Amino acid sequence: MATIDVGAVERNCRTLKDRVGDGVELCAVVKANGYGHGAAVCAAAALRGGATRLAVAAASEAEDLRLHFPDVPILVMGALTSDELRTALVAHADVAVWREGFRQSCSRISEDLGRMARVHVKLDSGMGRLGERDPDRLIELARACVEDQRMDVVGVWTHFATADEEGDDYMAEQLSRFAPVAEAVRELAPDCTVHAANSAATLRDAATHFDMVRCGIAVYGLDPFGRDPAERGLEPALELHSYVADVKRFERGASAGYGRTWQAPDDTWVGVLPIGYGDGVRRGLSNNAEVLVAGRRYPLVGTVSMDNITIDLGSETDVEPGAPAVLIGPQGSERILAEGVANRLDTINYEVTCGISQRVPREVIE
Ligand SMILES: Cc1ncc(COP(=O)(O)O)c(C=O)c1O
Repeated sequence: MATIDVGAVERNCRTLKDRVGDGVELCAVVKANGYGHGAAVCAAAALRGGATRLAVAAASEAEDLRLHFPDVPILVMGALTSDELRTALVAHADVAVWREGFRQSCSRISEDLGRMARVHVKLDSGMGRLGERDPDRLIELARACVEDQRMDVVGVWTHFATADEEGDDYMAEQLSRFAPVAEAVRELAPDCTVHAANSAATLRDAATHFDMVRCGIAVYGLDPFGRDPAERGLEPALELHSYVADVKRFERGASAGYGRTWQAPDDTWVGVLPIGYGDGVRRGLSNNAEVLVAGRRYPLVGTVSMDNITIDLGSETDVEPGAPAVLIGPQGSERILAEGVANRLDTINYEVTCGISQRVPREVIE
């Protein structure tokens, strides 16, 4: 089971909002089911904490959120097929535009729907993904959008590739490419919102804030730099829990799990927990993780199965079947961070929480 502390989400948003100040809007990024935390509940908490907009990657995500939030601006940041574009526009979502062909599709669908499309023109200032690389072409596109009666240019934006790498100078380079384009688009569409910063940029450099920041990872209390979130006043919202389903005696040499990758070096007790890679506990954690039980750390031993893991409770144990176990989160005075799990897997905290599967029930707590 995963618990989601929506109070933490709200407080994290307040922290971010304090950081950027009154003149800058906070857009909470709730794509991929709110980074695995639950999109709608986290969006609601983020809005309570001072976010005024939401962002997702896919049209279907905007469609779902629109049912919960009839009036909040929702930006679909990703690439869209024509069908997805229609879905997004029917849901009154803002969309990203960087190609003339897409602008024309947008115009046609808006005419069909009898309403204006709200578009954010996107510069690829160096991420090398979505967006127009050529500044002049993007300004031309913005002009064409402004001249189109069926379109409202409500934003100009970009995305950083290295904001989470402290000490790098590429973010500044991207910023220097983006700033003049943003100015030029603002001249064409004076009310448009200029935005660039993700969580890392938001926390790293106020020069990236412009009119709005788009924060995802920090909203959930996770650190974009992979460090302890507390260092930046962030509170992790998600905990991943299981329990000890069985405790059994292992004699020296007895093995646990597929492939016998662990064999008891001495007589010991082993706890079996009903959680595995089918729940998002990655197989890379085989013999490479710790689990909290009764406020103590125990090593995960053997191969992570789809539905079970095993932990070495030691030669003497007071742990009994039914004991609560924590894979991410605090227990007693101990704590396991998603950042620590990510580190063991040579990945990022984003992937750890996004990977918690649908079969794990999410319990929302205040
Ligand atoms: C375009 C864009 N903006 C903002 C974000 C939010 O980034 P973060 O979760 O690092 O704050 C993302 C997430 O990947 C993104 O793709």
